[in-house]
Amino acid sequence: MRVTVQQLRDWKRQGQRFAMLTAYEYSIAKLLDEAGIPVLLVGDSLGSVVLGYETTLPVTIEDMIRHTGAVVRGAKQALVVADMPFMTYQTSAEDAMRSAARILQETGAQAVKLEGGTVIAPTVRRMVDAGIPVMGHIGITPQSVHQIGYKVQGKTVQMAAKLLADAASLDEAGTFGIVLEGVPAALASRITASVSSPTIGIGAGPHCDAQVQVIHDMLGLFTDFLPKHAKRFADLGPIIRDAARQYASEVVDGAFPTDKESFAMDERVLRELSLEVGPALMAAGASGVEFGGYAPKPA
Ligand code: KIV
Repeated sequence: MRVTVQQLRDWKRQGQRFAMLTAYEYSIAKLLDEAGIPVLLVGDSLGSVVLGYETTLPVTIEDMIRHTGAVVRGAKQALVVADMPFMTYQTSAEDAMRSAARILQETGAQAVKLEGGTVIAPTVRRMVDAGIPVMGHIGITPQSVHQIGYKVQGKTVQMAAKLLADAASLDEAGTFGIVLEGVPAALASRITASVSSPTIGIGAGPHCDAQVQVIHDMLGLFTDFLPKHAKRFADLGPIIRDAARQYASEVVDGAFPTDKESFAMDERVLRELSLEVGPALMAAGASGVEFGGYAPKPA
């Protein structure tokens, strides 16, 4: 049975923490699903870690649909949440609902996530009333990078009060979860205690109801830098580099492929083929052709 948004709310009430991870493709999603990760987020962080952009702004709804569909096909148990890209929901509640409808209908994902607090709450309310499960995202909101940078949010009294108000607005609007990114641990703890939506922290300390990490950070696949909030649970970068070097050197020295990775052919068929095809090619004017070779077509 697939995890539901209702289950996440129940887990919060029961004090049961849970883990969320990002995923962007079928094979990794399948592995994470098999590992029992209950929520997979197709984050627009795919813009940085998969597509190589400097920010998440260039990510399109088509990018999200392509990658979310792949994750849904890999995940049988996990709840799949898809990020709504920049400017697919900020412009109006109608645009937001149309974009969310495309994502849910064309991918099979169960929920969407969008960035923003009090300002976006009326849109969230409309979406939730229309039956669209919405996860909120406050604190560092990467789609506003050109306005706020990647600085920890909520360090002054005013900013902390604003984040508390943002979380309350989203909660009242009906979110089933709220990502807190780059928020001081003590403030995240206060927010967590003040809302019924589970809070999902990334750089928000240990007192959130859940945690989320970017899978490429966690596995050492993204090597440009390691954010302070991330922990490498495995370092696959050097393993991939070594494997690639070994593969290349085996190709160069002829050690790969061997018979084990090749397909055999019946000797009799082979002999017959050289008797049949060889003379036929010669007759067609392909002079100098040996069996199995490629020859230019006769003029
Ligand atoms: O895009 C993303 O991966 C995210 C997480 C960092 C929460 O929004």
